[in-house]
Amino acid sequence: MTLLAVDDLEMRFGERLIQTGVSFKVERGTIFAIMGGSGCGKSTLLKHLVGLLPPAQGSVTYNGVDYWGADEAGQASLRTGFGMLFQSAALWSSMTILENVCLPLEQQGKLDEAQREARAREVLEWVDLGKFAEFYPSDLSGGMKKRAGLARAIGTEPPLLFLDEPSAGLDPISSKKLDNLVLDIRSRTGCAVVFVSHELPSLFAIADDGIFLDADSKTPIAHGSPSALRDTSTHRTVRAFLAREEPPPPAAQNGASPVPSATMPSSTLATP
Ligand SMILES: Nc1ncnc2c1ncn2[C@@H]1O[C@H](COP(=O)(O)OP(=O)(O)O)[C@@H](O)[C@H]1O
Ligand SMILES: [Mg+2]
Repeated sequence: MTLLAVDDLEMRFGERLIQTGVSFKVERGTIFAIMGGSGCGKSTLLKHLVGLLPPAQGSVTYNGVDYWGADEAGQASLRTGFGMLFQSAALWSSMTILENVCLPLEQQGKLDEAQREARAREVLEWVDLGKFAEFYPSDLSGGMKKRAGLARAIGTEPPLLFLDEPSAGLDPISSKKLDNLVLDIRSRTGCAVVFVSHELPSLFAIADDGIFLDADSKTPIAHGSPSALRDTSTHRTVRAFLAREEPPPPAAQNGASPVPSATMPSSTLATP
């Protein structure tokens, strides 16, 4: 069943086109990756999906309801259906971790104070921060902050989670731990996850499906699971990113001609 449908979305900052012709669907319980090089518009796309930026064109539909066609109350009600972990984790520095995690539960208004605290402590246990509930964000490492941000995003058990570069800047062990946590949360709650990542191991380990945004043509150039795209895509930009092959020369960036990997120097890595 389709939870989120994006249809022919166009994103602009003023006159400047970021991406156009973005269409995809996210099914219940699946993990969907937004891929592409730096600056292609991945974070901007997430902001369009969570209601922070209106599209220049096209639609974003949750369970069949057009977000940008809904009135303010309708949009607020749709927003209760998703949680978001921002690239920076975005915790309130003046609040303890427990208070941060309680905040969306308070806004949701379904539980009393004791129930909210019990729920917040439960999700903090899930992300292995049970002992850090009374700490402040500044007392935590980068990986712990991301996990706290994740706990805050999942407290209300939203059917859809948006994660912007959840493992960026983490060491490989913390990064793998976060991947496992996302899979664990999906199996506990049955939620769908839309995430942005540059980390190839994360992309291959957790994503069922995805879309690849191209910064040069300003449009998606591939659609599918990251591992399938790595193994079968004939687009040079996609292969440069996912299979770490030689990137296309600037003049031929939009070309789709496959290049046998044997002809490429293995030491040259594409910078995503
Ligand atoms: N608020 C903004 N105003 C104008 N341009 C922006 C704004 N936010 C991002 N951009 C530009 O839009 C492009 C896409 O940015 P972003 O979505 O952050 O890329 P990504 O997340 O893929 O690295 C970049 O060129 C960036 O400079
Ligand atoms: Mg970004």
